[in-house]
Amino acid sequence: MKASAPAKIIIFGEHAVVYKRHAVVTAINLRCYAEAKKSDEIKIYSPLGVTGLDFKVHPYVSYAIKRFSEVKPINGVEIRIESDIPIASGLGSSSAVTVAVLKALEGEFEAGLSNDEIFELARKVELDVQGIGSGTDPFIATFGGTWLIPDRKRINIKNIRILVVNTGKSSITAEMVRKVAELKRRHPDAVDKIFDAIDAIALESVEPLEKGDIKTLSELFFLNQCMLKAIGVSNSEIDDLIERLTEIGVSAKITGAGGGGCVIGIGDDKSIERAMKTFGGFLVEAGADGVRIED
Ligand code: MEV
Repeated sequence: MKASAPAKIIIFGEHAVVYKRHAVVTAINLRCYAEAKKSDEIKIYSPLGVTGLDFKVHPYVSYAIKRFSEVKPINGVEIRIESDIPIASGLGSSSAVTVAVLKALEGEFEAGLSNDEIFELARKVELDVQGIGSGTDPFIATFGGTWLIPDRKRINIKNIRILVVNTGKSSITAEMVRKVAELKRRHPDAVDKIFDAIDAIALESVEPLEKGDIKTLSELFFLNQCMLKAIGVSNSEIDDLIERLTEIGVSAKITGAGGGGCVIGIGDDKSIERAMKTFGGFLVEAGADGVRIED
């Protein structure tokens, strides 16, 4: 049985969402595909290599198999992964692979799991591997669409072109989340106030997202990026890219954990086209489908 789950971008609110502040997140038109086939041993085939249950090479897939086996014991399975989603780029590839594998296992072994239960298992896998996390990435990989988190309120984004540009440097979520946790431990009051500012930005963004108000959103992108820089998840390559995008009229910010990975940008059509010519990247189709069985 084959299943797929989408990548995501966090439009506003990464990191602060780990501390129960609001975030706006959407599933996008890149997917990870997982095929599960009954077998008498466990074998995982992916662009990362061919292994058995291997928590180093294939941590998310291996924990997904382990967590699924706790619900429905299995003798063995062959898992094959193909993905459009660049790894360690802030686009949610880890959660997409986790959720796609869980859904493919469900399709193959029929444990009777609903998507809510698949999300709960994927949430456990996120914590198994990273030790910390808000659950936002597994949520969006499971349910798709565009959401205000943690309220689980759906948002309808109107006529906004969001550009994604990859810095080409890895973004390791667990590393960045731990770095922010350490900063918060050392400066709790200051960091809490930054999270409150991010919370306000995420909440304020809902109306302009639904109205297609690029001017207001550009200001909110700028503010959110300043906050992300303040908590230490930007770096000189990201700052430089964002500066150059701003010079041609595209307001940009990190999406995801930062330290590398992708930035997202918005602006008028002309500026976006100019930015694409200069920096490459791709335009996002927001609100993609959540996890699904593929024929
Ligand atoms: C990673 O995509 C988003 C973070 O906020 C971590 C999380 O929410 O678990 C950095």
